[in-house]
Amino acid sequence: MSKFVISTFRGRLTNNVTKTTFKTNLIRPLLLSHNFSSTSNNYAVQNISVYGSGLMGAGIVQVAAQYGFKVTMVDLNQEFIDRGKEIINASLKRVAKKQHKDDKAAQNALIEYTWSNIETDIDSVRGAEKADLIVEAIVENLQTKQNLFQQLDKVAKPNAIFASNTSSLPISEIAKATQRQDKFAGLHFFNPVPQMKLVEIIKTSQTSKETYKILNDVIMKMEKAPVICKDTPGFIVNRLLVPYLMESIRLVERGEASMKDVDTAMKLGAGMPMGPFELCDFVGLDTLKSIVDGWRKDGKIDANLVATSKILDDLVESGHLGRKSGKGFHKYV
Ligand SMILES: NC(=O)c1ccc[n+]([C@@H]2O[C@H](COP(=O)([O-])OP(=O)(O)OC[C@H]3O[C@@H](n4cnc5c(N)ncnc54)[C@H](O)[C@@H]3O)[C@@H](O)[C@H]2O)c1
Repeated sequence: MSKFVISTFRGRLTNNVTKTTFKTNLIRPLLLSHNFSSTSNNYAVQNISVYGSGLMGAGIVQVAAQYGFKVTMVDLNQEFIDRGKEIINASLKRVAKKQHKDDKAAQNALIEYTWSNIETDIDSVRGAEKADLIVEAIVENLQTKQNLFQQLDKVAKPNAIFASNTSSLPISEIAKATQRQDKFAGLHFFNPVPQMKLVEIIKTSQTSKETYKILNDVIMKMEKAPVICKDTPGFIVNRLLVPYLMESIRLVERGEASMKDVDTAMKLGAGMPMGPFELCDFVGLDTLKSIVDGWRKDGKIDANLVATSKILDDLVESGHLGRKSGKGFHKYV
């Protein structure tokens, strides 16, 4: 069934047949179960635990829940969980409004349905108990990610698949912390998760075909577009994007053009939806810096492509991290 047909069909159901949450909830899982039939063994993912309720984690939780998965959102404390809930709430309202324009009942039904699929937990062990799939979206630090997966490996179901949303760390290095490297892969979502269609599925040399197939099914069920990539620095998108962002910063640093003009040039001359400085702020300057620093240390990428930038380092050091802190290259207040 094409995406267009699925969307139209759902639209008709919600608009003409199912005016109540109750009916929507009954019919939606039937529609959504369609994709499961293609899984090669009978292992179907129903429960997903997402670790990290920040920018990415909250987005992944929202999309998974919207598409019928039972999701547990796990973070270190209630304050972080509450912030994650706020991110979901704001985004979900936008999605509901976009999908169901003037139909308030259908908007509320989508919001209620999504929340009915979400639980939260601040106990990392308990958070993993039900999971068929664990998606990790915590801080971009190899040791922290390894520590978490090592702990989860001992308590999660033996068949549970583990995935990391890392932007820049080698998946195979994170996977080494576990005894299930065949059930370990990268699932690289893009920001903002509810809007961005692409998900890179990263296969290490150990990732089994079965694991890849199941992850592919999960991503299809979320109506996203999966692409496969080997475990190579930056995968596809960031490998091309990060050197471009860094060269934009260096171009301004060298005094060759202003930040405003570089943003304008790339939007109007190269058809980019955002200028590189707007994109840096959107991604988070700390995230960008940690990717570049990591790659430089790693030595696998041409050093000129990942050379340091004083402007970037200074902004991060002063806590100006982009949109999330209210100021980066641009101001957001
Ligand atoms: N920001 C982006 O545009 C983007 C895009 C794709 C992938 N990523 C990757 O996604 C991951 C998360 O990025 P983000 O921007 O959402 O970060 P973020 O800082 O917004 O959120 C990280 C969250 O993880 C939580 N956390 C830390 N340790 C934890 C633990 N042991 N258990 C549970 N929660 C824990 C933190 O409390 C925080 O809420 C990173 O690996 C990053 O590289 C980021």
